[in-house]
Amino acid sequence: MNSPPQTAAISVDELTKRYGRTTVVDRLSFTVREGAVTGFFGPNGAGKTTVLKTIVGLARPNGGRVAFRSGAVPSDARELGVHIEPCGAHPGRTARTHLRALAILAGLPRKRVDEVLETVGLEQAARRRVGTYSMGMRQRLGLATALLGDPEILVLDEPVNGLDPQAIRRLRTLLRERAARGRTTLLSSHMLSEAAQTVDDIVVIDKGRLVHTGTIAELEHSGLSVRTPEPERLSGLIAAAGGRAEPADGGGDALWVEGLPAGKVAELALRANIPLEEITSRTASLEDVFFDLTGGQDA
Ligand SMILES: Nc1ncnc2c1ncn2[C@@H]1O[C@H](COP(=O)(O)OP(=O)(O)OP(=O)(O)O)[C@@H](O)[C@H]1O
Ligand SMILES: [Mg+2]
Repeated sequence: MNSPPQTAAISVDELTKRYGRTTVVDRLSFTVREGAVTGFFGPNGAGKTTVLKTIVGLARPNGGRVAFRSGAVPSDARELGVHIEPCGAHPGRTARTHLRALAILAGLPRKRVDEVLETVGLEQAARRRVGTYSMGMRQRLGLATALLGDPEILVLDEPVNGLDPQAIRRLRTLLRERAARGRTTLLSSHMLSEAAQTVDDIVVIDKGRLVHTGTIAELEHSGLSVRTPEPERLSGLIAAAGGRAEPADGGGDALWVEGLPAGKVAELALRANIPLEEITSRTASLEDVFFDLTGGQDA
């Protein structure tokens, strides 16, 4: 797949944030590609919210820099939309009045209010007071607020938290549609597998440090699960034929094989009289990849 020209919408350079004596973000550098959906992953407490807050100017870094393509943090709702909990709406106001007030302040047309309410599926509840909202409804309102200016750059902290499957699908469609229009999104999540269908690029942090950056396609490696009573002999043949074989995570006789098609592995086994008990194409689970990257912690 050819990558489009790499223009950074946001560059994070050696970012460091300390709370008291604790360093929660440690010389973190990464870029957010323009026109892409970037997923920012890490276990609980890894520093995701802190980094997002620092990027949008809600927290001050102790070191390093954040630069937007246009320079400093944009103040125009058409350039930057942000949703980091809490959503900030007055509990006594309705979603509609909250969004209307924001639209007026930002100089946006009134019709954007109805548009974003529809986008997040909040039309029915729009005239209810925010104080009576469920968690998912508040999340939808936060999203609607961030989307009000149809911003060039959207920054969302854990946007799928509390959303039902229908709302998650809606969000996924929305973010892909934004990317197709060249819009940039940075979203955090602790579920790599969940976000795989939505994101193009990933940045994984652990304990405030970068552990991986790349595309989701690079992580989604597929291979063969092969079971044989003679794993060592078959591994040798696979390696000699240019493939890679290693004992599978589950242990036992299973091998994880990459770099050779199933037919070739079957042929090698047949020629050497090695019995095959199973040969199945699989995609490595992103959950396993996440655990490998973040030292197997719960996330
Ligand atoms: N205002 C604060 N004062 C002191 N420590 C803080 C503050 N905010 C965050 N921390 C600490 O910074 C670290 C990173 O927290 P952060 O909320 O950024 O993690 P996270 O990756 O967003 O986690 P989660 O997945 O639970 O949302 C944690 O150890 C947290 O306790
Ligand atoms: Mg967080």
